Parts: sequence; C-alpha cells; structure tokens
Amino acid sequence: MPLAHDAYRRLLGPTWAPVAPDRLRRAVAGRVVLVTGASSGIGEATAELLGRSGAHVLLAARRGEVLDEVVARIVARGGRASAYAVDLTDLDAVDRLVHDVLADHGRVDVVVSNAGRSIHRSLADTTDRFHDVTRTNALNYLGPVRLLMGLLPQMRERRTGHVVDVNSLNVDLPAANWAVYTASKSAFDAWLACIAPEVRVDGVATTSIHFPLVHTPMSAPTYDPALPALTVDAAAQVVGRVLVTRPRLLVPWWVRLAAPVQAAAPEVSDAVTARWLASRRKGS
Ligand SMILES: NC(=O)c1ccc[n+]([C@@H]2O[C@H](COP(=O)([O-])OP(=O)(O)OC[C@H]3O[C@@H](n4cnc5c(N)ncnc54)[C@H](OP(=O)(O)O)[C@@H]3O)[C@@H](O)[C@H]2O)c1
Repeated sequence: MPLAHDAYRRLLGPTWAPVAPDRLRRAVAGRVVLVTGASSGIGEATAELLGRSGAHVLLAARRGEVLDEVVARIVARGGRASAYAVDLTDLDAVDRLVHDVLADHGRVDVVVSNAGRSIHRSLADTTDRFHDVTRTNALNYLGPVRLLMGLLPQMRERRTGHVVDVNSLNVDLPAANWAVYTASKSAFDAWLACIAPEVRVDGVATTSIHFPLVHTPMSAPTYDPALPALTVDAAAQVVGRVLVTRPRLLVPWWVRLAAPVQAAAPEVSDAVTARWLASRRKGS
C-alpha cells in the first residue's frame, strides 16, 4: 500500500482500522451475506474478504461474467460464493433477486448495500440531462429500498440480521457539482436512518458508513490516484470491521467536526465555494 494511503487510513483513527481476521471470522462464518456491486471496487474487495472469512457470499451486479470470476477466486481459496447477475435499477429484477436468493439459500443474514453510481457534474451541465437524475436515484436510492423491503421481513421474523450501507461523506458535506449524486445517497441514508429503530426492535442492526475517497474505477475519472485515499482493500476492511462492531454510523472524525460548522453557517461555505467557482470560470 502506498505510504500516503496508509498514513491517510491511520489518520482516520481506530474505527477505520483493519479488522482482526479471527473476529471477522467469528462474526460472518456460516452467514449468508449479500453484497451488491460485487463486480468492482469496494464491493468486489468486500466479497473476497468475506469469502476468505467463511461467509457464504452472494454477489450481485450487472456483469455476470465478472461476478463468475470473483466467485471462482473465492471458491478456489476454499470459500462459498454464488453470483446473481441483476440490474438493480430494474425493480422487477430486484424482486426476482429477492425471490431467487431466498429460494436458493433460505435466508439472507447480512446485506452490504454497495452498488452505486457517482456523477460529478455541475447544474449547468445537468440541465439537458434529466436522465442523470432518474438513473442515479434508480440505483442509489430506489433499488436499495426495494431490495431491503424484500429482504427485511425475513430478518425481522428471524429476529436477526444486519444491513450495511456503503455511503459517502458527501451526505454530511454537500458540495458544488455533486448535487445529483449527493441527493440520491442522502435519500437512502435518510430512509435507512428512519427505519433503523423500527427494525432494531426486531433484532436487526443497521450501519451507515460515510466513506471518504476510495480509489476505485468509480473515483478514477474524477480523482488523481496519487491523492491520499483509502484503497479498496482498506475500505473492505472497514466493512468487515462494522460487521463485527455494528455501529449505527461511521463518519470520519474531521467530517463530524466540519459538518456542524457548514450546517450552522451555510452562507459562509456557499460564499467561499462561489468565489472558488468564479475564479475557475475566469481562469478558463
Ligand atoms: N469510490 C469512492 O471514493 C466512494 C466514496 C464513498 C462512497 N462510495 C460508494 O461506494 C459504493 C461502491 O463504489 P465503488 O467506488 O466501489 O465503485 P465501482 O468500482 O464503480 O463499483 C460499482 C459497483 O456497482 C455495480 N453497479 C453499477 N450499476 C449497477 C446496476 N444498475 N445494477 C447492479 N449493480 C450495478 C457495478 O457493477 P456492474 O457494472 O457489473 O453492474 C460495480 O460492481 C458506491 O455506492 C459509492 O457511492 C464510493
């Protein structure tokens, strides 16, 4: 791991540190864990980590052939894994996924809701692209809600389960040029926060992870890979850790400090950002 990335991970503090392999194994061995977006980035690394730790991993994403390769790698190392090729923006397909995983495995113990798409685009550039809004919400908000509406009843009935949302610090710190992405991630974050106590009564835990930058195929077009950030393996370790510790919310400490300041004085952060945008416009 490059030094800058390791130093960055350490800066995040102990709640973002790698999980002890034996603790993770105790938490997930024999459990049926559905990971969405498991063909790439954070989801792929999480599926491999959980497969190595004794979980039966169900991998969902659109590219079935890529999922099959990840499954083969997990199985080659002695793990258990199954692939489900599905477009999570197709709500009927989500219902079929729920039906199929329950028919095939009888239950799902843990859902890692990770599939997502990101859009870094200004309002001006989005004006003629309303499909950006619909398709981003379809994947980041509506699909995960539909999936959990299908899977939560059996968890609540069995009085056990855990839902982990792979979310972003953008929901704490709204930023220019991220409106569509941030709104969709915030919608799911809010939905999960509202239902969290309802399902907790029935023994089901929920965790929202507000990740900082992670170097993945999604972030590559926007961020220089040399920037300090988490690697996909470090991010997967964070997912593994929350499966052990089950916090309701994991947010970087510096976001916890900055978010109340931005919320208390949005006009100040708006003014600073507007000046920066204006200076960039002049420079271009
Ligand atoms: N990277 C970051 O800096 C960062 C920071 C904070 C939060 N996050 C969150 O982390 C999650 C994973 O992102 P990543 O960076 O690991 O991105 P990634 O490498 O691009 O992976 C995205 C995953 O989502 C799947 N996916 C996309 N569209 C789908 C669809 N319609 N139906 C089913 N699956 C679909 C992709 O698989 P297919 O193409 O095979 O469908 C892929 O497996 C996202 O929710 C993102 O918002 C990322």
